[in-house]
Amino acid sequence: MFVATSCQPWVRWKKAEKDEPLLLLDDNAQTAAGGADNSRCHVCHINFAMEKLAVTHARANIGCEHCHGESDAHCGDEDNITPPEIMYPESKIDAACLKCHGDRMKMTTKHKAVLAGTLKKTCTGCHGEHRMSHRTRRWNKETGELISDDKVRMLTDDMIKGEKKKD
Ligand code: HEC
Ligand code: HEC
Ligand code: HEC
Ligand code: HEC
Repeated sequence: MFVATSCQPWVRWKKAEKDEPLLLLDDNAQTAAGGADNSRCHVCHINFAMEKLAVTHARANIGCEHCHGESDAHCGDEDNITPPEIMYPESKIDAACLKCHGDRMKMTTKHKAVLAGTLKKTCTGCHGEHRMSHRTRRWNKETGELISDDKVRMLTDDMIKGEKKKD
C-alpha cells in the first residue's frame, strides 16, 4: 500500500553559507525560541527550515502562513497540484516587504537606489535564498493556474485503470 504522505525529493538541500552557523536544527528549537511554528510546511519544504528570510521572520513570529496563507488545500493535496494561497509574481515582492519595512528602508544608503528604482533588484534578490533551484510544477503566481508539471502523481494512470478494472 501507499503511505499517505506525498513527500518526494523535490526539496534540494542548500549548502549552508560559509560563516553561518546552522540557523535552525529542528522545529523545536524554533518554537522554544517563541517564534512561529512552520513545521507544517517543513514537512515538504525542509530546506526552508534553514533559509535566512524564513528563519528571521519565524523568529519574529511571522510564519510561512503569514506571507503565503494557511494553504490547507496545498498542504493536503497528495498530487501537489494545488498551489499555496498566496504567491508572489516579481512585480509584487517589493510592495509586500515594504508593508512592514517601509520606514527603516529609507534609512540605509544601500536601499536608496533600490527605492529610487535605479537599481533593478527585488528585495529577495538580495535578502535570503528564498527560491527553489528545481521545480517540478509551476503555477501562474497571479491566478494559481497550473502551467507545467512533471506529471508525477500519487495515483498513476495504471493504478487508476487497475482500480477501474476491479469495479
Ligand atoms: C515575509 C514573508 C515571507 C515568509 C515569512 C515566507 N515567505 Fe516564502 N515567499 C515570499 C516571497 C515574497 C516570495 C517570492 C520570492 C521571489 O520570487 O524572489 C516567496 C517565495 C516562496 C517560494 C517559491 C520560490 C520559488 O522558487 O518560486 C516558496 C516555496 C516559499 N516561498 C515557501 C515558504 C515557506 C515554506 C516559508 C516558511 C518556512 C516561507 N516561504 C516564508 C515571502 C515569504
Ligand atoms: C508582517 C511584517 C513583515 C513583512 C511582510 C516582512 N517583514 Fe522582514 N521583518 C519583520 C520583522 C518584525 C523582523 C524582525 C525585527 C526586525 O529586525 O525588524 C523582520 C526582519 C527582516 C530582516 C532582518 C533585519 C535585521 O535587522 O537583521 C530582513 C532583511 C527582512 N526582514 C527583509 C524582509 C523582506 C525581504 C521581506 C519581503 C519578502 C520582508 N522582510 C517582509 C517584519 C516583516
Ligand atoms: C542591492 C541589494 C539589496 C536590495 C535589492 C535590498 N536590500 Fe535590504 N539590505 C541590503 C544590505 C547590504 C543590507 C545591510 C546588511 C544586511 O543587514 O543584510 C540590507 C539591510 C536590510 C534590512 C535591515 C535594516 C536594518 O536596519 O538593520 C532590512 C529590513 C532590509 N534590508 C529590507 C529590504 C527590503 C524590504 C528590500 C526591498 C524593498 C530590500 N531590503 C532590498 C541589500 C539590499
Ligand atoms: C505535501 C507537501 C507540501 C506541503 C505540506 C507544503 N507544500 Fe508548498 N509546495 C509543495 C510542492 C510539491 C511545491 C512545488 C515544488 C516544485 O515545483 O517542485 C510547492 C510549492 C510551494 C510554493 C511555491 C509557489 C510558487 O510561487 O510557485 C510556495 C510559496 C509554497 N509551496 C508554500 C507552502 C507553505 C506556506 C506551506 C505550509 C503552509 C506548504 N507550502 C506546505 C508541496 C508542499
